Amino acid sequence: MNMDLQPRLGQPGTGVVITGGASGIGLASARALAAVGRPVALWDIQESRAAQAAAEIAESHGVVALGLGVDVRDPAAITLAAEETRAALPSVGGLVHCAGIVDTGSLEGVTIESWDDGIAIHLRAIVLLLQAFLEDMRRHPGSAMVATASINATLGNGVNPIYTAAKGGVLSLVRSLADRLARDGIRVNAISPGMIMTPMTKPAADALGRDYFEKRILLERFGEPEEIGRVVRFLLSEEASYVTAAEFIVDGGNVSSQR
Ligand SMILES: NC(=O)c1ccc[n+]([C@@H]2O[C@H](COP(=O)([O-])OP(=O)(O)OC[C@H]3O[C@@H](n4cnc5c(N)ncnc54)[C@H](O)[C@@H]3O)[C@@H](O)[C@H]2O)c1
Repeated sequence: MNMDLQPRLGQPGTGVVITGGASGIGLASARALAAVGRPVALWDIQESRAAQAAAEIAESHGVVALGLGVDVRDPAAITLAAEETRAALPSVGGLVHCAGIVDTGSLEGVTIESWDDGIAIHLRAIVLLLQAFLEDMRRHPGSAMVATASINATLGNGVNPIYTAAKGGVLSLVRSLADRLARDGIRVNAISPGMIMTPMTKPAADALGRDYFEKRILLERFGEPEEIGRVVRFLLSEEASYVTAAEFIVDGGNVSSQR
């Protein structure tokens, strides 16, 4: 372990796979990582947007950037995309799981299909991703994963029971995986964003008004995706070499608020 205090935000310089990389928090995380020289693979169900975003990142940051169409509900698609990623990137030593959807139909709206989809996207994919890249990550010192939970894991929301349950599961799963993977030198952490302005939250902000959400946030505003991307980058870097099994809440003061 190097004990000097030189900045190490770009180390290790291994490649990073970002699911949900075509939009919002995933895209901002990919840009943040590329800005310190890390190669990135953007996996998203929106194939053309992933490819376009990767091309823009390669152009502006001069790193290898790959964009792939991947439905993370599909185990075979994950296996195939892992092979394509391994062939295109110099290495893989980081994973960021940002792919996500949100249910809005409350208890009455839950179907067998929507339940299975939500759990497969938010939760099962974390395990499948780690299985797909375990050997790569073992080989590269400093490997790490960040899984996206949510302040909803703590603040139960009656509107989205599947999302809320899945995000609670992300926190528990991260603790289990961090225990298992510590012996391989791989760190695993969760980030819990608060209200971040992305295509996921814009419909609710438009319908209810920003003030509905902002009045209870200590910093009195929505966060920007880049403000999550910076923390993801930190958690994947050697700056965070002693951080594992943690939940990083990045919410401008929302779960703590009594307002
Ligand atoms: N925006 C917020 O306020 C907020 C708060 C807490 C947690 N989060 C979490 O952050 C993550 C990113 O959300 P965002 O706000 O950037 O939303 P977003 O809608 O901008 O991005 C989500 C991305 O996931 C992709 N995706 C959806 N289903 C997929 C699938 N089956 N396979 C592959 N890709 C798929 C979408 O195409 C999209 O590009 C999600 O897990 C979300 O739950 C967001």
